[in-house]
Amino acid sequence: MTLRPLNSSDENRLFDFFHHLSPLTKSRYGPHPFDWETILALCRGEYKDYKCFVMLDDKNVIVAYSVIKKGYLDFEVPRLSKYNISLNFEHDYTLAPSVADAHQSKGVGSMMLKAIFKELSKAQAQKVILWGGVQESNEPAVRFYLKHGFKKLGCFEKQGKNLDMVKEF
Ligand SMILES: CC(C)(COP(=O)(O)OP(=O)(O)OC[C@H]1O[C@@H](n2cnc3c(N)ncnc32)[C@H](O)[C@@H]1OP(=O)(O)O)[C@@H](O)C(=O)NCCC(=O)NCCS
Repeated sequence: MTLRPLNSSDENRLFDFFHHLSPLTKSRYGPHPFDWETILALCRGEYKDYKCFVMLDDKNVIVAYSVIKKGYLDFEVPRLSKYNISLNFEHDYTLAPSVADAHQSKGVGSMMLKAIFKELSKAQAQKVILWGGVQESNEPAVRFYLKHGFKKLGCFEKQGKNLDMVKEF
């Protein structure tokens, strides 16, 4: 498996990835819409402050995807400001990872996260927070983040209970 930045040749592959996610995974993962217009904009790099990465298998099928935003999402700033952390818009990042259903719990997400942490360290990242937090009921994901050095900051209500988590570099 290889991890690389998303590029303009990925339009159909990314469409297939999003459209094969199960209803359960989609209920846990929705950093942005999965419509064709958004896919084109992502693949063409039109969201200037987003960095997207994909992991591909040996048949060139996308098995995992992550979107990372430099800084914070505007609507999350008031909530995150209440925690005892300083928000650094130049050196902090907001992250949303996902793995295709058939590949979950096989180490793919861990491989992707480690590679992304390397990239972020090179970019002198100070910390990473989760995009929209993580649903408290999504126990495998909460365990996954704890295992990779994230700490719980606090919780908030949005269609159920969600946790904010941060990893400091
Ligand atoms: C959360 C998510 C990104 C984690 O990625 P993943 O590839 O499933 O995670 P990993 O396999 O790397 O690690 C998770 C578990 O698999 C286990 N694992 C790791 N390598 C493994 C391997 N080679 N074989 C079997 N299991 C393995 C880990 O030990 C871990 O188990 P544990 O948490 O019970 O200790 C992924 O499951 C996912 O996309 N879920 C749906 C969407 C989602 O919830 N996204 C997050 C929104 S905040």
